[in-house]
Amino acid sequence: MQFTAILLGTITTLSSLASAQYTNRSHAFNLVVESSTNKTLSGTRLTACHSGAAIETLCTYPAASDSISDEFYYNYTTQSKPTSGIITWNLPYNGNQIESEPLTFQYDPSTNVALPVFIPSEDNEVFVTFDKNNYLLVLSYLDDTKTPPGYKPQQLSRWQVCQTYYGSYTYTTLAWTLGSGKPQNPSCQAVKVKRVAITKS
Ligand SMILES: *[C@@H]1O[C@H](CO)[C@@H](O)[C@H](O)[C@H]1NC(C)=O
Ligand SMILES: *[C@@H]1O[C@H](CO)[C@@H](O)[C@H](O)[C@H]1NC(C)=O
Ligand SMILES: *[C@@H]1O[C@H](CO)[C@@H](O)[C@H](O)[C@H]1NC(C)=O
Repeated sequence: MQFTAILLGTITTLSSLASAQYTNRSHAFNLVVESSTNKTLSGTRLTACHSGAAIETLCTYPAASDSISDEFYYNYTTQSKPTSGIITWNLPYNGNQIESEPLTFQYDPSTNVALPVFIPSEDNEVFVTFDKNNYLLVLSYLDDTKTPPGYKPQQLSRWQVCQTYYGSYTYTTLAWTLGSGKPQNPSCQAVKVKRVAITKS
């Protein structure tokens, strides 16, 4: 835990720099996966799963419980069209402290499946928006499928649910296909991810 605290101290300074423009924050919401082919999977809530010191993946299994682990926020700016921002999650630590962590993509050279991970670092932050039906889309500005490659604003949905391996944990997690092809991980199932407002009684 001491290691975590030191790490967080360093990182907090960084966060306040790079995410400065994402000053608006939404109310807490759940992230729910929808599958057109798998009724068991469809409707499952994503939950932050411990995957290392201050590091969490987004699991469908182990399952979610009504807790801080499945409450997410959108830190965004309305000064771009569409709105642009990051998904954040509050990591509790030292009993009563909170660290707001951004959702990032972790890449491995062996695979075209990127792993969404909450980590106390700005590196590889994922910039996202929501469409009018509250589906989560990733913003991209590159098209390299044509020659010459160039600028092309895109809002992509290449979400998957796969068995993933990260930090020595094997979980069933949210994942993302890099590029327009199929994920090489045979356990992957294509899904959409929807924001659902939390109504507390
Ligand atoms: C549906 O998804 C669940 C959870 O990921 C998985 O265990 C099951 O094998 C899937 N079923 C089919 C038919 O793909
Ligand atoms: C925050 O939201 C308000 C109300 O929608 C808007 O007027 C303001 O420009 C937003 N600020 C940023 C930085 O997006
Ligand atoms: C998200 O916004 C909240 C409220 O403005 C802020 O306290 C927090 O540090 C932000 N998180 C990140 C990762 O930028």
